[in-house]
Amino acid sequence: MTIRPAEAADRSALQALAAEALPSWPPDAFAPADARQTLVAELPPHGLVGFAVVQFALDEAELQALAVAAGFRRQGLGAALTDAAFACARRRRARVMFLEVRAGNHAAQALYRGLGFEAYGRRPRYYHHPEEDAVLMRTGLDAPLPKI
Ligand SMILES: CC(C)(COP(=O)(O)OP(=O)(O)OC[C@H]1O[C@@H](n2cnc3c(N)ncnc32)[C@H](O)[C@@H]1OP(=O)(O)O)[C@@H](O)C(=O)NCCC(=O)NCCS
Repeated sequence: MTIRPAEAADRSALQALAAEALPSWPPDAFAPADARQTLVAELPPHGLVGFAVVQFALDEAELQALAVAAGFRRQGLGAALTDAAFACARRRRARVMFLEVRAGNHAAQALYRGLGFEAYGRRPRYYHHPEEDAVLMRTGLDAPLPKI
């Protein structure tokens, strides 16, 4: 398995993967942008089996999306993609990474907690279809964060 930055040629495979694994993620959000990095997990002979999207602003990073194809979960790919997102954020001098996750998405929250994220707040009814709160999580990239 290889984790690498997405290339233009990955676009249709990424859109197909997102449609299956994370349908709320808009297809145009894979467009290249200076302040955003898409990482892909490639597993021969299956092709792309996961992706992570990280957005950067000054010394902050946001993990905007993370998904692994249904048949390839619980094999460490989600954790490996998040680790790669951390490395990418550190290279860009980010000191903290934030994310939002559905309150009912216990799989993702377990993964994030295991990698050092802590919940620091909640946005009521943030998501739609179905309506659900967002749990706000964050982790320090070079040192533990002070308590809020
Ligand atoms: C969340 C997601 C990315 C996890 O990917 P994954 O490759 O299965 O995760 P990993 O195999 O790296 O799991 C690492 C750890 O996270 C936790 N975890 C992952 N899936 C879990 C689940 N279904 N239930 C409980 N814990 C889970 C476990 O602690 C796991 O370690 P373990 O397998 O040794 O117990 C994947 O389930 C997914 O794509 N879901 C749909 C999209 C989504 O919800 N994305 C996140 C919101 S943006």
